[in-house]
Order: sequence, then structure tokens, then C-alpha cells
Amino acid sequence: MADIVEDLKAELEAVAARGAELDEAPSEQKLREANAALQRQLSAALKKMRDVPKERRAEVGKAVNAVKVGLEERFEGRLEALAREAREAELSGPMLDVSLPGRAPTPGRLHPVTRVKHELLDIFQSLGFEVADGPEVDTHANCFDKLGFPPDHPATDMQDTFFLTHTDEGDPVTTLLRTHTSTVQIREMSRRPPPLAVVSPGAVFRRDDDATHSPMFHQLEGFLVDEHVSFAHLKGVLTLFLERVFGPDIEVRFRPSYFPFVEPGAEVDVRRPGQDWMEILGCGMIHPVVFEHVGYDPEKVSGFAFGMGIDRMAMVKYGVVDREGKPSIKLLFENDVRFLSSF
Ligand code: PHE
Repeated sequence: MADIVEDLKAELEAVAARGAELDEAPSEQKLREANAALQRQLSAALKKMRDVPKERRAEVGKAVNAVKVGLEERFEGRLEALAREAREAELSGPMLDVSLPGRAPTPGRLHPVTRVKHELLDIFQSLGFEVADGPEVDTHANCFDKLGFPPDHPATDMQDTFFLTHTDEGDPVTTLLRTHTSTVQIREMSRRPPPLAVVSPGAVFRRDDDATHSPMFHQLEGFLVDEHVSFAHLKGVLTLFLERVFGPDIEVRFRPSYFPFVEPGAEVDVRRPGQDWMEILGCGMIHPVVFEHVGYDPEKVSGFAFGMGIDRMAMVKYGVVDREGKPSIKLLFENDVRFLSSF
């Protein structure tokens, strides 16, 4: 009968000896599998406890407990060792490179035409001109009639545009996409008395469409009205302005020309050393008929006005040319980022 105890002890020893398997388990999963197998073996052995005589149960119980605790210690020890190994492998393995440069957003920038516009406005503001705004859709009266264009004057053909006719309380009103910023002369002078010195930039629209003309382009209008204003003032202001924009090397030439709203009228060309003359703006002394239309007395005041293409200024300033080297205004409006980011 003593054999049952000896058998059980031997069995427990066998389980304890197999505990060495836990020490060698290569992974947490294998460790848990091996542990489960040992636990099963242990409970099978424990079933035999009931056959152990009472007076020896304490002794056997002690032995069972020792095996249990031993297995537990090995299991925990191996589990910890496996975790340590994994951590060490991670630390000594290849580094995770967190130093890659981030993806910086490409900031936008101002369009070259806008940049030139700001530059031109800065110069005129430094000379004491104020900046006014005018609408792109204006009346036929502000665009032509009040500026002294006779009805159906051929000059309106030169400035053919997009007409919009609507009625205002039953009366037909012709509005149009303005063909020039000279509309602002009428608007500003009608609003207040002289003296005034104003510049006004904005988009204008014409039927023209070729390499150096776009159906939409930008102008900068300027005018000054006071007593005793002469053509010498006009020449002085514009020459100074052009030298500031293009540098002191620029040659400036005033050429007689015709616009219905000035008398005398001129066109101004500029030339860089070694290059061709380029027409850059129209100007002249404000015609008495314009003063009459805005309620100024042409006997008391005089003034000058000028209008220039901002896009043209940008073309000359930056030398905007197409692949063949010819000036091309269209490049400015195609929004090709390769072109725009070269400024
Ligand atoms: N408005 C004229 C044009 O667009 C330019 C101009 C303005 C001429 C002011 C004289 C005076 O062609």
C-alpha cells in the first residue's frame, strides 16, 4: 500500500523534471502550450490523491505544492525572459528613422501682374495720388459718351466690347464690360470737386485677341486736376514714374496721338538700351468737354490723365516672351504654374 505514495511521488517528480521544458520554450505561445500540458499531467496525478491514506496526505500534499510552485516560478521566469529578449531585439535592431523631412506645403504667391500693380500703385501713392476703385460693368455713358466720344465714333470700334442692355424703370440702359479704366475719371470727378489726384487699377475688356493683346487685360488709370496744371506736369510725373519702374536707363518718348477725352493727346513709348521702342501708355490734357460733363469749370481748372496696360508693364519689366522669344501676353493668363513660379 506504500506503493501508491511512492508512485505518486515518482509521477510528481517526473512532472517537475519536465518543467525544464518551460525554460526552453522558444516563444510565449510554446511556453503556454507546454505549461498547459504540465498542468494537465499534474491534475491527472492529483486525482490519485484520494487513494492516498489519510495519514500520508499531508506529506504528499506538500510534495504536490512544491511541484506546483516550482512550475509556476519557471513559467513566470520564462515569460519575463521572453519579454526581455523581445525588447532587447527591438532595441538593438535597425532604427526607425523619424528624421525624414516633412512634406512642406508649397506656399502660393502673388501673380506677376498683381505684383507689378502693387509696385505701380506704390510709386503713385508716394507721389500723393490716392487709389480709387471702379466697377468692371459700367454704363455706355461713363465709358464713352461723357468722355467725349461722339455717338458711333470710329474710336468705339477700336474698343469693341461686350454689351449688356437692360431697362431701368422702363428706360433702356446700355451697360457694358468697360473697355478702359477712364470710366473712373467720370465717376470720381462727378463725386467731388477738384483738386484731386487719383489712380485706379482694374480689369478691362476688348475684342482684341492676338499675341500682344488679350480680350481681358488690366489698366491703371491716373488723373490729376487742379488750377494751372500743364503738360509739363504730365511729362514730369510720367517720366519720373517710368524711371522708377524701369530704372534710370530707360528712354522715354512722347508721341502725339488722339483720344477723344484729351487735348493734346500723346502716346508714350519706352526703350531699354539696345532694344525696340515699346508703346506703354496713353495720356494727355483732360478735354474741356469732360470737365463740362462732370460739372467742373474748364475755364478754372485743368488736368492731365493717363492710362497704361499693367500686363504690358509686367511683360516689359520681366521680359515675358514665348518659346520663340516673341513677347506674349497670353502667358500671363494661362495660369501655368511652371511659368508663374519663374517670377
Ligand atoms: N483710356 C485710354 C485707352 O484705354 C488710355 C488713356 C487714358 C489715354 C487717359 C489718355 C488718357 O486706350
